[in-house]
Amino acid sequence: MLANMVALGSVLGLVLPVILRADTSAGVGFRFASHIDDYMVLQKEPAGAVIWGYGIPGATVTVSLASGQKTIMKKVTQVKAQSSNTWLVVLDPMKPGGPFEVLAQQTLGSVNSTLRVHSVLFGDVWLCSGQSNMEMTVSQIFNATKELSNVAAYQSVRIMSVSLVEAEEELEDLPEIDLPWSTPTAGNLGHGNFTYMSAVCWLYGRYLYDTLQYPVGLISSVWGGTPIEAWSSARVLKACNVPKKGYVSPDTVSGPTEHSVLWNAMVHPLCNMTLKGVIWYQGESNMNYNRDLYNCTFPELIEDWRHSFHQGSQGQTERFFPFGFVQLSSYLPAPSPDEGFPDIRWHQTADLGYVPNVKMPNTFMAVSIDLGDRNSPYGSVHPRDKQTVAYRLHLGARAMVYGEKDLIFQGPLPEKIEFLAHQESINLTYYQQIQLQRQDNNIFQISCCSKHQCKWLPAPMSTFSNWTLTLNMKSCGGSVVALRYAWATWPCEYKQCPIYHPESALPAPPFMAFVNGHWGRVARG
Ligand SMILES: *[C@@H]1O[C@H](CO)[C@@H](O)[C@H](O)[C@H]1NC(C)=O
Ligand SMILES: *[C@@H]1O[C@H](CO)[C@@H](O)[C@H](O)[C@H]1NC(C)=O
Ligand SMILES: *[C@@H]1O[C@H](CO)[C@@H](O)[C@H](O)[C@H]1NC(C)=O
Ligand SMILES: *[C@@H]1O[C@H](CO)[C@@H](O)[C@H](O)[C@H]1NC(C)=O
Ligand SMILES: *[C@@H]1O[C@H](CO)[C@@H](O)[C@H](O)[C@H]1NC(C)=O
Ligand SMILES: *[C@@H]1O[C@H](CO)[C@@H](O)[C@H](O)[C@H]1NC(C)=O
Ligand SMILES: *[C@@H]1O[C@H](CO)[C@@H](O)[C@H](O)[C@H]1NC(C)=O
Repeated sequence: MLANMVALGSVLGLVLPVILRADTSAGVGFRFASHIDDYMVLQKEPAGAVIWGYGIPGATVTVSLASGQKTIMKKVTQVKAQSSNTWLVVLDPMKPGGPFEVLAQQTLGSVNSTLRVHSVLFGDVWLCSGQSNMEMTVSQIFNATKELSNVAAYQSVRIMSVSLVEAEEELEDLPEIDLPWSTPTAGNLGHGNFTYMSAVCWLYGRYLYDTLQYPVGLISSVWGGTPIEAWSSARVLKACNVPKKGYVSPDTVSGPTEHSVLWNAMVHPLCNMTLKGVIWYQGESNMNYNRDLYNCTFPELIEDWRHSFHQGSQGQTERFFPFGFVQLSSYLPAPSPDEGFPDIRWHQTADLGYVPNVKMPNTFMAVSIDLGDRNSPYGSVHPRDKQTVAYRLHLGARAMVYGEKDLIFQGPLPEKIEFLAHQESINLTYYQQIQLQRQDNNIFQISCCSKHQCKWLPAPMSTFSNWTLTLNMKSCGGSVVALRYAWATWPCEYKQCPIYHPESALPAPPFMAFVNGHWGRVARG
C-alpha cells in the first residue's frame, strides 16, 4: 500500500541512494511506532502524550506507564484492521519528570506479548526542521569544544534525529532514524558536518532547559539545500498556486526539490505524536525558487502543519501551537540584483516585518542579519554563531510560549514614520529605546520617484535620541514613496548593525514602509 521509497543519506552533497521497502503492511508484528523508544521525552501536561504502534488486527493492546514496580496508569485499545493494523492511546496528562517505563501488551487468544521502553521522561517536545543552517552540528559552530564539553549537565534534554528520506506519498511511520532517542553526548552532538544532530535545535533546547528546569525533547528533521515546497503538503502548494515544476538554481538548492517529498517522509510520520511546538530555519533555497510565493507558502505551511499535528494527535497538540523561526542571516558575495535574501526575510514575516501578526499568529522570530560570517569554512551562507541565533529564538519562546510578560524578544521597529517635507527629513519614532551603535548612511534607503522612474537612494542618519531617529532625504529631487532598512544580502558586519535595543542587544529587524498619502504605519500586532 505504501509506495517504495528512496532513502538518501547525504553528506556534503554526496548522495547514496538506498531502496527501502515500506514495511508497515498487514502481517507485520507487534511494535511501537519507530519514534517511540528508550530515552524519549513525551509531551507533559496539559496535553496527553500519544502512544501508537502496529499489531495483529483485533488484538487488545494495553498500554501502561510504570515507575519502578508501580503501575501509574493503564489504557486499553484494539488494533484496527481498517487502519493498516495500528493502535493508538492517549495517556492522561503528566507532570514533568521521570524516569518511567512504557509497556504495551498485546493479547489475542493465546498470543500474549509485551513491548517495553525505559528511561522515558515527560517534558516539552520540540520539532526542529529546515535546511542546512538547521542541519549544522555543534562540531561546526564557534567554540565547538566548549559547547560539547558541558553536556553532562543536560541529561534531561533528549535528542533524536530523523533520517534523510523522500517519499512520493504520505508515510505513516518513519522508515529510518539516524539517531534514536538518546541522552546528549559529545559524540552524538558533534557527529560530523551536517549529519545529526542540529546545533540550533540543541542550543535552543539547552537554553530552554536552563529556564524551565524540566525535561526537553528535541527532534531534528532536516535536510540541507531544500526548498519549502519539499516540506509542504499538496494542500499548501494548492493554496499558493505553486507551479508543478519551477526553475531550480543549483547554487542554492542541493537537496530534493520535488513537491511534498520531505513532508511525506520526514514530517507526516510524526503528526500523531504530541508536540509542544516547532522551530524552523529555512529559506535560503527559495532565494531563486518561487521566491515571490514564499509570503504564501510559509504562512500556509505553518497553518497546515498545525492542522495536521492537531488532528493526528487526537487534538492533544495545540491547534495553534507555537512556531518559531530564524530570519535569514547574511552571506557573501551579494548576488546582483541584491534582492533574494531581503525578499525572503520580508516574506518570512508575511510582508509585515514583525511576528506574530494576523497572518502568522503565535509565531516568534530570531533576527540574524547581524550574524554573518565571511570566513565560515562551510561558506558564508553557513554562519558559525549558532549560539546567538538559538538564544534569540529561545527569548521568543520564553515570551510567547512560557509567559514571561516583560521579556524583550524582538528588536526595535518604528511605531511612527513622519515625513517632514519642508525640512526634507524623515522622523522615525521607535516602539522601544534604540541604541545607535554605529552611524551608517546607506542602510536606510528611500524610493525616490521622478517622472516615471523610481530608484532607491540612501537616506543618511542625521539626529537621534533614545527613541527617535531623523533621516535626511535631501538626495531625492522628486517624491519619496517608500522607506526601507537593512535591505541587503549583507547589511552589516558581525554584531555591528546600526540599531539595537540597548539591554537585550537585539538588532532592529529589516523593514519596508510605504507612503500612502501619508506614511504607512509599521505597526506591531
Ligand atoms: C500475559 O502474560 C502476562 C505475563 O507474561 C500475564 O501477567 C498476563 O495475565 C497475560 N495476559 C493474558 C491475557 O493472558
Ligand atoms: C568538516 O568540515 C571542516 C571544514 O571544511 C573540515 O575541516 C573537517 O575535516 C570536516 N569534518 C568532517 C568530519 O568531515
Ligand atoms: C507576495 O509577494 C509578491 C511580491 O514579491 C506580491 O506580488 C504578492 O502580492 C504577495 N502575496 C501575498 C499573499 O501577500
Ligand atoms: C494518525 O492520525 C491520522 C489523522 O488523524 C489518522 O488518520 C491515523 O489513523 C492516525 N494513526 C493512528 C495509528 O491512529
Ligand atoms: C566563544 O567563547 C568566547 C570566550 O568565552 C566568547 O567570548 C564568545 O562570545 C563565544 N562565542 C560564541 C558565538 O558563543
Ligand atoms: C520627531 O518625533 C519626535 C516624537 O514625536 C519629536 O519629539 C521630535 O520633535 C520630532 N523631530 C522633528 C525633527 O520633528
Ligand atoms: C537615554 O538612554 C540612556 C541609556 O539607556 C539613559 O541613561 C538616559 O537617561 C536616557 N535618556 C532619556 C532622555 O531618556
